[in-house]
Amino acid sequence: MAGSAAHRAVLQRRTPDSHRPQPPSPPHRRLPAVFSRRPSATRRTHPLIRAVGAPAVGYAHPMTAGAEQYLPATRGLPALRAAAATCRGCGLYENATQTVFGVGRRSAPLMLVGEQPGDREDRQGRPFVGPAGGLLARALDDAGISAEQTYQTNAVKHFKFTRTSGARRIHQKPGRTEVVACRPWLIAEIDAVHPRLVVALGATAAQALLGPSFRVSAHRGETLELSGDLGTRRRPRLLATVHPAAVLRDRSGDRDKAYRLFVEDLRRARDILSSPPV
Ligand code: URA
Ligand code: SF4
Repeated sequence: MAGSAAHRAVLQRRTPDSHRPQPPSPPHRRLPAVFSRRPSATRRTHPLIRAVGAPAVGYAHPMTAGAEQYLPATRGLPALRAAAATCRGCGLYENATQTVFGVGRRSAPLMLVGEQPGDREDRQGRPFVGPAGGLLARALDDAGISAEQTYQTNAVKHFKFTRTSGARRIHQKPGRTEVVACRPWLIAEIDAVHPRLVVALGATAAQALLGPSFRVSAHRGETLELSGDLGTRRRPRLLATVHPAAVLRDRSGDRDKAYRLFVEDLRRARDILSSPPV
């Protein structure tokens, strides 16, 4: 895609910890925020400063070098959705059923960004209609966020999978090349919806917006801000948390706790939405 250097994102902590509403010592908050612990020399050289990956252009197939060339002249959601349906910006369109574009209100204050559509989403053409979507819907409800407040989309708009010997399609994580190839759609969605807050669900979404060295485990729940370098016209705040599928497949042995922490991050998102604009 064009001008990758212009797609760097700089991580900035938006709110000092002392000003952020703190729930009563949640387990993952016992550690101080990574940035507040870092000596300033480390901070200056933090890898996110050179963030969102340049190399993708070199790896992409020349005939499918990113979604940029498929973007329509008018950038409203209906035009974007229609154009995305015929995107060939990477190889994933070949085996998937259809493009799964975002859904939700044009001016939703909260944009939720997942990884990519799953099997059900691929068949139905809508994001978050499968098991992870069910958990997300419940968690939003428990966090006091109504679905009408949200625009829901994914970092990558086509389902990537492998087939078992039977008919089952097994989810495959999208690669950096695909994430970068598909990012123009996400940037266009951010511009069209201009949410107050983007919540990145999991590493793929977070790294699409903050660069490949971003670690959700180190920064989940923090209030960040998109850098203007990403190419969006506005710079919404951003909060990264885990992917709802990671809560479903929890490996810590305490799924209830994983769910509680997820809801807690979404409550922070709700608090950001209800705080006065800065
Ligand atoms: N997981 C995602 O990341 N997105 C979806 O739309 C569904 C499951
Ligand atoms: Fe286009 Fe994204 Fe689909 Fe690739 S995954 S073909 S870039 S819409």
